[in-house]
Amino acid sequence: MQTATPPPVPSRPVILENNLPGVRLTSETGFTSEIYNHGAHVGSWRDGNGDAILFLSKHAQFTPPKAIRGGIPICFPQFSNLGPCATQHGFARNQAWELVEQDSSQHKSRECVFQLASSDATKELWPHEFVARFRVALVGDTMETSLSVTNSSDAKTFEFTAALHTYFAVGDIAKASVAGLGNTTYLDSLDGRIEKVDANESVTFPHEVDRIYQQTPDCLQVVDEANNRTIQIKKTNLPDAVVWNPWVDKCKATSDLGDSDYEKFLCVEAAAIQNPVKLAPGETWVCSQVLRVSKGCV
Ligand code: BG6
Repeated sequence: MQTATPPPVPSRPVILENNLPGVRLTSETGFTSEIYNHGAHVGSWRDGNGDAILFLSKHAQFTPPKAIRGGIPICFPQFSNLGPCATQHGFARNQAWELVEQDSSQHKSRECVFQLASSDATKELWPHEFVARFRVALVGDTMETSLSVTNSSDAKTFEFTAALHTYFAVGDIAKASVAGLGNTTYLDSLDGRIEKVDANESVTFPHEVDRIYQQTPDCLQVVDEANNRTIQIKKTNLPDAVVWNPWVDKCKATSDLGDSDYEKFLCVEAAAIQNPVKLAPGETWVCSQVLRVSKGCV
């Protein structure tokens, strides 16, 4: 006898804790994540014990169009001021995205896709026709994310830069580091973006750090000694990596961060900055970032 395939569950956002619509995902090992329609912003990723792997500021504002401080903001169509529009980090993190796909098994979702299509509002900021899609999937102790951008115009080529501005929660910044960037060239955003070479095996944080590492390896690690864990970052089509920690003064000056929050997070932002992505009409660009958490420090 044939069993009838259950009808697909409609993709419908729920209202999440901060009164914003979004999706809650749960992996088969009990990891969870919340993704908001606002910015297609990954707001949280927690392990089976409920411990946060991503940092979300207690002072974050959930009042669109303001971007949410923490999690994974999507910087598109530019990183910082390096790109084609006037808005810091582009506008994708400030826009309402639409939930277009969501799987469901026994009322738990593991995967969802949000979409942002160009509109009159985006064209005022960047005069191009595009469709961006952001997929998030939880597979065991892994979070898979991928971003695609299609040039949906029939005439105009465009260029953009992009980053997945991931805020990693760490137990103590003094015992945290980023591995994989030894002997890599970076632009020092705290020193006129002049080019420097990092001779150290790991990036540590004894002070403010704001660097654009260029042409980096596809595998990097956030080593979080205080929490005795390592998060592996595996990226594709995102050759650059921004490493940022605001340290004392910038933390105090940033209204949606607590004064001592710099002790509790560091950002590694898988990015395409040095060589902007160029898309002809009809072309699609796809990048991905896969995060995996494991016990112990490398
Ligand atoms: C980082 C930049 O990517 O984002 C920093 O390198 C910037 O220079 C930081 O301060 C935060 O930016 P925003 O716009 O979210 O406050």
